[in-house]
Amino acid sequence: MIGRDLLSMDDLERAEIERVLDTAVHMQEVGLREVKKVPTLRGRTIVNLFFEPSTRTRTSFEIAGKRLSADVINFSSQGSSLSKAESILDTAKTLDAMAPDAVVVRHGVAGVPRRIADVLRSPVINAGDGAHEHPTQALLDLFTVRQEKGRIDGLTVAIVGDIAHSRVARSNITGFLKMGAEVRVAGPPTMLPPAVETLGVKAMTRLEEAIEGADVVMMLRIQRERMGAPVFPSVREYAARYGLDREKLRYAKDDVIVMHPGPVNRGVELAPELADQAPSVILNQVRNGVAVRMAVLYLFAGRPRGAEGD
Ligand code: CP
Repeated sequence: MIGRDLLSMDDLERAEIERVLDTAVHMQEVGLREVKKVPTLRGRTIVNLFFEPSTRTRTSFEIAGKRLSADVINFSSQGSSLSKAESILDTAKTLDAMAPDAVVVRHGVAGVPRRIADVLRSPVINAGDGAHEHPTQALLDLFTVRQEKGRIDGLTVAIVGDIAHSRVARSNITGFLKMGAEVRVAGPPTMLPPAVETLGVKAMTRLEEAIEGADVVMMLRIQRERMGAPVFPSVREYAARYGLDREKLRYAKDDVIVMHPGPVNRGVELAPELADQAPSVILNQVRNGVAVRMAVLYLFAGRPRGAEGD
């Protein structure tokens, strides 16, 4: 995978997903050491190019790069020459001239990481583009499920909420299907993409039906920033029908786990106590994000095995 871009879960074969997850197991061990640092990417430069707000992804990519001893540069559009009308592609070319070893891109418009990858010589890692893809979120979600359940193959995964505007849903659908899970999606009809079943999922409009017998329930935030007009009557009605609480969770398997990519809108898609307590694994997802992003940086931007620094 060295030197390749990671723009979509479609870029990865099942064996490559497994390689990322297996590598993340080793990276997780680094995070348990007193000195949480290895020299693997010493002398390498990683640029985090975030045009859209982020807490988890941006911070975990920064920690991941630093734990691998890379030099990490955080670029945000505020305070850059973008405010002087420089284009994104000219910004990318400018950064390319400084010879980074990997560029991590988040943008509110689908496809921007791919356009940037077209002009950069270094690998580009998509950290979320519009409603399109968020591949490292899917990888950390797969890692978390494998860690909690011991497998992914054969599990039933229900993804509930604003599927139509969610890059997390799209990347996870591809990832879980590639790894052999059954995937169901549920939400109001206005939050389900047209012909979503052509992706290979079962689509439902009742939460209870979607989570019946599920091993994993993944709740999604309403992506208001990607909506035009509201697509549901009221937040109260949405929460009543599509918000998960312990009562509704009884439809799922006894050992179900509850996931959420964050940020959580407590009391809307998830009852407050479910955000903090078992069977929620939300903070495990955040923790695993560092190890998985270390694995991604190592596999896509690292040196070949045996080279200096490994
Ligand atoms: N899950 C996720 O992408 O969170 P951030 O927007 O905080 O990075």
